[in-house]
Amino acid sequence: MRKPAFLFALSLIGIAHCVIAQVSIIPRPAVVEQPKVAGQFVISAQTPLVLEGSGLENSASFLNDYLEQVYGFRLAVSSKPVRGGIHLNYERMDHPIAGAYLLQVKKDQLYIAGDNATGVFYGVQSLLQLLPVEKGASLKVPFVVIKDYPRFQYRGLHLDVGRHFFPVAFVKRYIDYIALHKMNVFHWHLTEDQGWRIEIKKYPKLTEVGGYRNGTIIGRYPGKGNDGERYGGFYTQAEVKEIVAYAARRYVEVIPEIEMPGHASAALTAYPALGCTGGPYKVQETWGVFNDVFCAGNDSVFNFLQDVLDEVMPLFPSKYVHIGGDECPKESWKHCAKCQQRIKAHGLKDEHELQSYFIQRMEKYINGKGKTIIGWDEILEGGLAPNALVMSWRGEKGGIEAAQQNHDVIMTPGSHVYLDHSQTKNEDSVTIGGYTTVQKTYSYEPVPAALTAAQAKHVLGAQGNVWTEYMKNTSKVEYMIFPRLSALSEVLWSPKALRSWPDFEKRLQVQFKRYGLWGANYSRAFFDLKASITPAKDGDGVMYILESTSPAGKIHYPPSVESSLLVPYTTPFHVRSNKRIGAVLLVDDKPVSSLWQTFIINKATGKAITVATPTAENRRGNGGNFGLVNGVRTEKGGIGSEEWLGWQGPDMEAVIDLGKAQSISSVDLHVLEQTASWVYLPQYAEVFTSADGKTWKSLGKGSDVVKEDNNAAVLTVPFSPTTARYVKVVAKNYGTIPAGQPGAGSAAWLFVDEIAVN
Ligand code: ACM
Ligand code: ZN
Repeated sequence: MRKPAFLFALSLIGIAHCVIAQVSIIPRPAVVEQPKVAGQFVISAQTPLVLEGSGLENSASFLNDYLEQVYGFRLAVSSKPVRGGIHLNYERMDHPIAGAYLLQVKKDQLYIAGDNATGVFYGVQSLLQLLPVEKGASLKVPFVVIKDYPRFQYRGLHLDVGRHFFPVAFVKRYIDYIALHKMNVFHWHLTEDQGWRIEIKKYPKLTEVGGYRNGTIIGRYPGKGNDGERYGGFYTQAEVKEIVAYAARRYVEVIPEIEMPGHASAALTAYPALGCTGGPYKVQETWGVFNDVFCAGNDSVFNFLQDVLDEVMPLFPSKYVHIGGDECPKESWKHCAKCQQRIKAHGLKDEHELQSYFIQRMEKYINGKGKTIIGWDEILEGGLAPNALVMSWRGEKGGIEAAQQNHDVIMTPGSHVYLDHSQTKNEDSVTIGGYTTVQKTYSYEPVPAALTAAQAKHVLGAQGNVWTEYMKNTSKVEYMIFPRLSALSEVLWSPKALRSWPDFEKRLQVQFKRYGLWGANYSRAFFDLKASITPAKDGDGVMYILESTSPAGKIHYPPSVESSLLVPYTTPFHVRSNKRIGAVLLVDDKPVSSLWQTFIINKATGKAITVATPTAENRRGNGGNFGLVNGVRTEKGGIGSEEWLGWQGPDMEAVIDLGKAQSISSVDLHVLEQTASWVYLPQYAEVFTSADGKTWKSLGKGSDVVKEDNNAAVLTVPFSPTTARYVKVVAKNYGTIPAGQPGAGSAAWLFVDEIAVN
């Protein structure tokens, strides 16, 4: 059979290599123009690299190092005006944020011009992404003109080296990852309960003692014991300088974090006199929030921290110093005569104002040295330090409040940019929990809608946070940051109007190959199964809807739990009875992801529910209030599961409309008890019924619980069988966390993920 003429013509075009090569750059550039007549500039070991301006050596070295590592050769660098080759230069571009550049690939020349040296460097980053993703291929760069500039000035990535310690070589690699994404801040979290990681010459015990712990919890908190192995490490000041200089050559600013007044166990172990009780303390071996904090009533604590900062600040040219401020329990201050004396002497209202005093006193000192403090959003409590920049992590609220008070803010909400969260519900390694897909990170908008245009200017950018409780090695860190870092880079760099998930998704396929070139590990969860649960239209049970996160994925399922057969999934499951449903995602006929979900169906499942007291912003559960009647209980356990709805302080009060009057005899609540994380069982639950949803009659209270092995429990309220259409369930919050417990004095959390009416 003869080929139709147009197919023949197409194949000729293929042979002639005239097809316009796909430009696949992350973050997406502002303007990409490809000429109608395609062609390529070929880079070889003979191509000269010409620096037309001074100060461009960093860009030349980065390009050469990359070419050598990935493709095996370097280019000769020249400042003589030779024709042809790759030219680096400056051109004015009048963009308010440093980093604008122009990249032109033509037949005889590849030209990169930056608004400044940073811009040239970013032009080089784009060039690297025009190179083939196959090793050994000829380095053909497609003709293109790219004009590009950053959207936000602060494009950050954080790393916690306290929970786990990472060698200098990896920290440098991590900075490369930042630079390869045109990001520009490395927030280095250097001190923690589990380890103090920066050498301080005046206080050598900080690292000699505080840099090491005598063991580490095994598995997910609260864990299955302790490995009993001494673990630790620290960076010398010489190494810190080396890393800061390395970062500067990549236009990455390093911001150190020295935590205070909380997360101080390691420092207190080294110097017990800095705590309220005088110790003894220990470098912590488990995760969590600890009561061992710096004493706020002791002037020598402030002298100590000032001495520490006097050594830290000169190592970091950044105008910022991060002083933490998050998760500081007030328990030890409440029982400390010195702290109470400080409260009295300064007319402070309570321990929250004492924390504010602490931060403001340190701010004054740091401002005196010409630097600005950054603190986590808890520094808003008890009064914000006058010049502080706020990092909003517990949702966006802190950032909004700070911007409204005319403070600069960095957005880093757990919901979207905590890169320690699971990327898939089918995570097979232990993570802290949560569920933040690459698509969710991609969807993040750093400027909250609540801000006016003037307030929005205070949002300098956003940052991904990487807390390393469950990242023992560098390969796991890479697995957690990739590909979400690539998504975040586009949030921070690309014009808002150009952000497009379908477009990003295509480029991400190429980026996966680039991770391969870099030798970086990454999560394959992009090829994942996404499940959602909605009420069934007929009011009977729920709909279980499966989607592939990738267009390339085909969903199949076994018709029964025992079946080894797989059939294609075509339509949502209507779940009306207790069931376990499995599904598998096939890409190119190979399984890449699977999911099992158990449903426990009862009279409340899928019914209309209203909840009187809103949950905490960051604990809305999986699908909001409906999650309480979606037939699903968290199986993983622990606070990390996104099934939980959480209230800190308030009771839960929910009303379920059973649709019609039904006979009922008990109500079960699926709840969590994890006191180390401030989550307590309710004091009791009480059930009311009503025929009209207005007048209520109590059926009784219950507080008996049956515990499960993952910190979850079922609390049952039994009552005499009755008939009702409306059921109200009130779960009484535990109240104030008792003395001696983590978080003592604070309001306890109440976690519920399912209400079953039987
Ligand atoms: C934080 O995640 N504790 C800032
Ligand atoms: Zn004290």
